Amino acid sequence: MRTYLVTGGAGFIGSNFVLYLLGKHEDVRIVNVDKLTYAGNLENLRSREGDPRHIFVQADICDKAAMEGLFDTYQPDYVINFAAESHVDRSITNPEVFAETNVMGTVTLLNVARKAWETGDGTFGQHKFVQVSTDEVYGSLSLENPEVFFTEDTPLCPHSPYSASKAAADMFVLAYADTFGFPVNITRCSNNYGPYQFPEKLIPLMINNALQHKALPVYGDGLNVRDWLFVEDHCKAIEMVAHNGKLGEVYNVGGHNERENIFIVKAIIAEVSQAVCDPAINETLIGYVTDRKGHDRRYGIDPQKIKRDLGWYPETAFEDGIVKTIAWYLDNPEWVEHVTSGAYQDYYREAYGQ
Ligand code: NAD
Ligand code: TYD
Repeated sequence: MRTYLVTGGAGFIGSNFVLYLLGKHEDVRIVNVDKLTYAGNLENLRSREGDPRHIFVQADICDKAAMEGLFDTYQPDYVINFAAESHVDRSITNPEVFAETNVMGTVTLLNVARKAWETGDGTFGQHKFVQVSTDEVYGSLSLENPEVFFTEDTPLCPHSPYSASKAAADMFVLAYADTFGFPVNITRCSNNYGPYQFPEKLIPLMINNALQHKALPVYGDGLNVRDWLFVEDHCKAIEMVAHNGKLGEVYNVGGHNERENIFIVKAIIAEVSQAVCDPAINETLIGYVTDRKGHDRRYGIDPQKIKRDLGWYPETAFEDGIVKTIAWYLDNPEWVEHVTSGAYQDYYREAYGQ
């Protein structure tokens, strides 16, 4: 039986990954370690409450003693490191916590895993550390050259405090591979969407605001481009990389699905309005607001390498993924109510004055 130490497994992608693995494999054990920040929610895992294959531990990945204890007790075969501060806007107002969790947390995990996994002859057996990173480490592409994409060879050029912290973590991960022969992979993924995404990110924010007839804040001219990937496709990619990725390699994971933000917002308005038969949900809700500082113009991934080497491809068309996602938010108003009470409400009021 394989044991996975999944960090950040109560967040958006991490919880989808935990549910995906538990659904796919009978013979698996997941130790889910999460600090439960505003973005982490045990509600995401409620459907697996009582499943003995899933062990939840509330802890901070920066807490070395706690991480050592987990390695001693559970002896994981894999670490899948999702835990992070993940929202660019928050990194602009409060960068320190991004450095702490995203950089120091990753270094702490690397160090603890290296000591736990190293054998007498300096090798690491069948273990692997998968760092879940982001395409944002590559910086920004221009709208003028749509045929140019990020590849694994694109130099790192992060702009936001969030992407700078993820790039720093990636460099530590690669340094551990180069220095110690430590077994790692890095995945760099484009923007995910799907169930359980905290409604501060574009797609769930727009769905929930539209349902409440609140303004839909579009930054700048709305023409920034993101490459959207359905979260389940990302989960499949991570599992493939964990099992079959060549040691030391980076794999870009993208949906080949680039869209302008304003396209996404209008598509959500049309779909939500139709789903709840409410003509008051229309484009008059759109409000163009001051642009994000240092707003990256375009992200776009060429996922050739993971397709060629591991056989992964994005299976879910955006038109299907967005319908599934909206249906999930419509079916789960209690989840939205739960996660948006308290801390998030304060943040939202401060950010948007609503
Ligand atoms: P999220 O914000 O929804 O979840 C992050 C989780 O990490 C939360 O459960 C939170 O409680 C936990 N966490 C935060 N600090 C912690 C700490 N110090 N110790 C333990 N747990 C901690 O994020 P997400 O969108 O699920 O992203 C997961 C990973 O994927 C991140 O590393 C992010 O950089 C990366 N990523 C996300 C996207 C995306 O579109 N969401 C795209 C590319 C890469
Ligand atoms: P976001 O979901 O925050 O992801 P990221 O910044 O990591 O790409 O934002 C996606 C895009 O949507 C980005 O170009 C910023 C834009 N955006 C808005 O226009 N309005 C919003 O309220 C938010 C949250 C994002």
